[in-house]
Amino acid sequence: MTLGLCWPLGSRCTVSVLVLLLALCTQVAVEANSWWSLAMNPLLIPEAYIIGAQPLCSQLAGLSQGQKKLCQLYQDHMQYIGEGAKTGIRECQYQFRHRRWNCSTVDNSSVFGRVMQIGSRETAFTYAISAAGVVNAVSRACREGELSSCGCSRAARPKDLPRDWLWGGCGDNLNYGYRFSREFVDAREREKSFPKGSAESGRQQMNLHNNEAGRRTVSDLAHVSCKCHGVSGSCSLKTCWLQLADFRRVGDALKERYDGGAAMRLNGRGKLVPLSGRFSPPGAADLVYLEPSPDYCLRNQSTGSPGTAGRLCNKTSEGTDGCELMCCGRGYDQYKAQLVERCHCKFHWCCYVKCKRCTRIVDHFVCK
Ligand SMILES: *[C@@H]1O[C@H](CO)[C@@H](O)[C@H](O)[C@H]1NC(C)=O
Ligand SMILES: *[C@@H]1O[C@H](CO)[C@@H](O)[C@H](O)[C@H]1NC(C)=O
Ligand SMILES: *[C@@H]1O[C@H](CO)[C@@H](O)[C@H](O)[C@H]1NC(C)=O
Ligand SMILES: *[C@@H]1O[C@H](CO)[C@@H](O)[C@H](O)[C@H]1NC(C)=O
Repeated sequence: MTLGLCWPLGSRCTVSVLVLLLALCTQVAVEANSWWSLAMNPLLIPEAYIIGAQPLCSQLAGLSQGQKKLCQLYQDHMQYIGEGAKTGIRECQYQFRHRRWNCSTVDNSSVFGRVMQIGSRETAFTYAISAAGVVNAVSRACREGELSSCGCSRAARPKDLPRDWLWGGCGDNLNYGYRFSREFVDAREREKSFPKGSAESGRQQMNLHNNEAGRRTVSDLAHVSCKCHGVSGSCSLKTCWLQLADFRRVGDALKERYDGGAAMRLNGRGKLVPLSGRFSPPGAADLVYLEPSPDYCLRNQSTGSPGTAGRLCNKTSEGTDGCELMCCGRGYDQYKAQLVERCHCKFHWCCYVKCKRCTRIVDHFVCK
């Protein structure tokens, strides 16, 4: 990476701008391969786009050609794509907190590292939840008036809404968020073309399917929300709008789809079909995968698995967070840790709660 690339502004640069651009340069120097890196990039502030927008879009690490074009056309959306990716990653880490692979990020460019090169269930989940995060963030940003090309939802009034309720509060613009996410997130898959029946083509179909599954899940969970008006609480008048579900519910739903994910293979015509003929084809909101997961037990450079050495485990649990499964039978070390908690809380009239701080010694178990 030479400095020359970062010098499009000439003498117009102020010191703070230079600091920004220099920071960007060091980021670009790292090999990048996913738009997920927008979640790790602290430079996604609107000012960064106003100054010399085009160079910035082309220098953002991790964008494919098509995504760079979209960045130029929709600069104000980029911040929300980054937020959406971040929301997705955080939810992934919550859902997988008790598992050997816990969705940890390993660097700022590839984000999850080499494990995503395996077409596993975990990869399927990650694609779905991040695409869902973008639908969520962009739909909300529309409603909040943050984007120039969209506003409140213009979804049609649901047929079953009681006649005297008003439809038309400012709703999340799911329609726009869905379409933009499809355009942006899928761009990097759609712009490549691979020979029919090749492993790359299989992976491309897998990614597209799982991206869509994430978006469908957000869309399926959106609901009508209403607010009462009228003389103090009489609720004689209601205004209703379209509201996205809390993102935790999206994460929970996708986690269930992960558990029931469909193993696929490429058939003779180069299409994804269920691995076993006994299963019916997966639906649009189901997750699909092509390869078995590694066991994620040991650190492995070639699979990108970080391994579970050093992970906390639960000695009494028989689940995936239990020491037996988490440590893959390698055993664990035990140590005492001090836990500080709020305790002896008292409610005081009116209205606050006062607590003491208590310390307790607890046992921690850590995989060898
Ligand atoms: C990623 O970026 C953040 C913010 O710029 C920085 O604090 C962190 O050290 C970076 N991590 C790596 C692994 O480069
Ligand atoms: C890493 O994983 C690959 C694929 O599962 C396996 O063949 C290889 O032996 C592993 N390497 C180490 C050092 O465990
Ligand atoms: C996830 O696992 C990595 C190593 O496998 C560990 O460093 C990290 O602390 C774990 N994160 C959580 C939230 O447990
Ligand atoms: C460990 O697992 C047991 C059984 O599932 C559960 O009751 C307990 O709360 C867990 N302990 C911790 C510290 O999570």
